[in-house]
Amino acid sequence: MMIDDQWIGLGYLLSASLFIFGLKRLSHPRTAPRGNQLGAMGMLVAVLTTVLQMELGDGIEGWILIASGLLIGGLIGWFMAFRVEMTGMPEMVALFNGFGGAASALVALSESWKYIEDETLELPSGLELEVMVVAAGLSALVGWMTLTGSLLAMLKLKGGVEIFGKWIRTPTWGPSWLNPVKGLLFLSTLVLIYLSIQEPTETDYLFAIIGISCLLGILLVLPIGGADMPVVVSLLNSLSGIAAAFTGFIISNSVLIVAGSLVGASGLILTFIMCKAMNRELIDVLFKAFGGSDKEQLTRTKVGSDADEVAMMVDGAQKVIIVPGYGMAVSQCQHQVKEFADLISEKFDTEVKYAIHPVAGRMPGHMNVLLAEANVPYDQLIEMDEINPEMPEADIALIIGANDTCNPAARTNEGPLAGMPIIDADLARTVVIIKRSLSVGYAGVDNDLFYMDKTMMLFGDGKKMMNELNAAVKEL
Ligand code: TAP
Repeated sequence: MMIDDQWIGLGYLLSASLFIFGLKRLSHPRTAPRGNQLGAMGMLVAVLTTVLQMELGDGIEGWILIASGLLIGGLIGWFMAFRVEMTGMPEMVALFNGFGGAASALVALSESWKYIEDETLELPSGLELEVMVVAAGLSALVGWMTLTGSLLAMLKLKGGVEIFGKWIRTPTWGPSWLNPVKGLLFLSTLVLIYLSIQEPTETDYLFAIIGISCLLGILLVLPIGGADMPVVVSLLNSLSGIAAAFTGFIISNSVLIVAGSLVGASGLILTFIMCKAMNRELIDVLFKAFGGSDKEQLTRTKVGSDADEVAMMVDGAQKVIIVPGYGMAVSQCQHQVKEFADLISEKFDTEVKYAIHPVAGRMPGHMNVLLAEANVPYDQLIEMDEINPEMPEADIALIIGANDTCNPAARTNEGPLAGMPIIDADLARTVVIIKRSLSVGYAGVDNDLFYMDKTMMLFGDGKKMMNELNAAVKEL
């Protein structure tokens, strides 16, 4: 038995190490795919070790249920990952966060329920029933809040939902009295957890916590919108990890505690990195309805350019900085962009670099993933802080479907973009912008960059315009 315990401990140690090494590798686009595989391998080792632990313990009841769950869950995960478009990733991540939180809360509920219902059952060593109900209450608070908050976040990212053939938009709503209400609800869950310590066999407290937590999740996400959504999705990701860690405590599973803590910590770090990239305080994101979903009305006009004219400009350029954004992801023109970069560096000996804004697109690392898919060398992908000082030396800043991330309005103290660091594309000698119209970006703010004298607009779908531009360059 002793030897069995050691094997189980080793299995968990191996899977926790795989998670940590996997996370480390996720920090660079080049090593990220391997990091992802290591993480998945760690999860497989954790599942197999847990099954072995159960078999060596009281034996496994309901093999068929476990195997069916693994099979159905695995198939759904594979199907969704296979089908999802790059642009739909944030929604899928939000949905998975919600499922993760709910799974943790359900496991915590069923496990603590077992001991609450049958007081004769022996608790896992070192645990008192009171401690278990506190952990179950905390897991319920975080897990159910994560589920409802994530579902709402997913609907918001989708822009709405179609019910009975009618498109219902998801509202962004946050009157000033909502914050005290959220505070009161949060405090009441803490009171309920305290009461459940006094009467650990009373299940009503747990159900009240679940109900309030579901409401809290909705109220937390309801006022948030616009450019703040990625921050809240990352925070919910962190919460789903914390819920898992609480649940690991209840079922005495060390690897669940380790994995949950890793998700909780890394999600929180990512949240703060994103806040910094957008010059926002987390507290403002969560408690000030500020994301801005109302799009401004545009009345100004601008004459468009064409591919031949831009190709001639490029012919004389020594340095071109490409600024990709969400529109590149929508039109999936990363391969055409790479072809353009290769063409002009070979034909005109032009130096080409890519300016990467941390929140360009709709998910962290969105541009890196797309450009890596098109085999753009990593050393050409330059982070915002590093590329901005080079902008005044650039002959052309070629903006492809980016808007908010290079909108000079962010330098003012007003509006949803106020204070967000941007790519200083307006400092380049000439600015070329590829997009379909003069419409606003995600945060709904008009962009003065479109109307500057040195700006040439190439109106059209990203892929179509890049193809035209490449053809025009080839003809020169
Ligand atoms: P956005 O400000 O979202 O603007 C994208 C632009 O792409 C739009 O103005 C649109 O203009 C254009 N576009 C759309 N489809 C196109 C197509 N097929 N071909 C060419 N252009 C097309 O983009 P951004 O600069 O990348 O900024 C990202 C924004 O999203 C930020 O506000 C950020 O905070 C927010 N956000 C980021 C994330 C993360 S973590 N990256 C997650 C959620 C939200 P037209 O309609 O005129 O073509």
